[in-house]
Amino acid sequence: MKKKIALLKGGASVEREVSLKSAENILKALDKDRYDTVEIELPKDKSDISWVHKLIECKPDFVLSALHGGRGENGAVQGLLQCLDLPYAGSRVLSCALCMNKHFAKKIMTSEHIPVPDGEFITLSDDVDMYEQKLDLLGYPIILKPNRGGSSIGITVADDFNAVKAAVTDIRERYEDDVIAEKYIDGKEVTCAVMQTENGLKVMSVLDINKSKGIYDYDAKYLSRESAVSFTTLPDYMRTMIEQIAVKAFKALNCCGYGCVDMLIKDEQIYVIEINTLPGMTDHSLIPQAVGETGLTLGEFLDKLIELGT
Ligand SMILES: Nc1ncnc2c1ncn2[C@@H]1O[C@H](COP(=O)(O)OP(=O)(O)O)[C@@H](O)[C@H]1O
Ligand SMILES: [Mg+2]
Repeated sequence: MKKKIALLKGGASVEREVSLKSAENILKALDKDRYDTVEIELPKDKSDISWVHKLIECKPDFVLSALHGGRGENGAVQGLLQCLDLPYAGSRVLSCALCMNKHFAKKIMTSEHIPVPDGEFITLSDDVDMYEQKLDLLGYPIILKPNRGGSSIGITVADDFNAVKAAVTDIRERYEDDVIAEKYIDGKEVTCAVMQTENGLKVMSVLDINKSKGIYDYDAKYLSRESAVSFTTLPDYMRTMIEQIAVKAFKALNCCGYGCVDMLIKDEQIYVIEINTLPGMTDHSLIPQAVGETGLTLGEFLDKLIELGT
């Protein structure tokens, strides 16, 4: 008998369009002889919860999520799936919530001796002037990011304290968020795609991010026609270190299923910047490219997630 799969897509986050493309790609890859797939679109309007009724009525055997960012990735949708007792692919509530909160994710990684960039955490109620000396000690340039942001939105690189203050004000006004102020690592960027298998975690691939600007920004991630990623050209010993750190970070944040661990490398020192628990699945995205390196097709990769229930 065919399994019924609910495929969640859309949503209200800025990554809505990417999510729709991811869903298209997942739908194309799913084996039609094994699965009947029902697409469930989360509308732009957050108050419209008709999709929840559709999900309940559909009674799926398994849920795949093509959602990115916002409620789809911060544990909220995962919490709903837990309440409805529906098995789904990817990280659970706690890991999703932690990975969407850069400050807490860094705290946990630091406690597990996983290297992360040095920085300060400036909360919404903090007086920014209190950070002038600390940031001077950290040294410029400093990168400023919304704590719960994604897709490189709202990120600024500051060369002095005036620029820091302007960036903090901007993040507070536009995103009502706390700020991660971090040493800007002028290095190489890689991402490591990890998946769960019967025999534990497996690194699918290490991919180089080819940044034309100082950061891997929204345009490069989603709009550029040129693929911004390629299989890494780093030497084997670096690749081994990257893989070990990625698996350690994935475990530290209790992730499961699949995900991408983003890292920066400077002077052979590796820094984890974040883990994406629901990375893109478009034909340009990292995961489909990484899956290719394991010898699996995207369809076979999805079969494995469904079989393992993760
Ligand atoms: N400490 C840092 N030094 C240099 N570049 C950084 C640093 N942190 C982030 N970046 C750049 O900004 C991009 C987005 O940062 P990230 O922390 O991954 O946030 P997001 O959740 O928005 O993707 C990264 O892909 C990288 O190019
Ligand atoms: Mg990122």
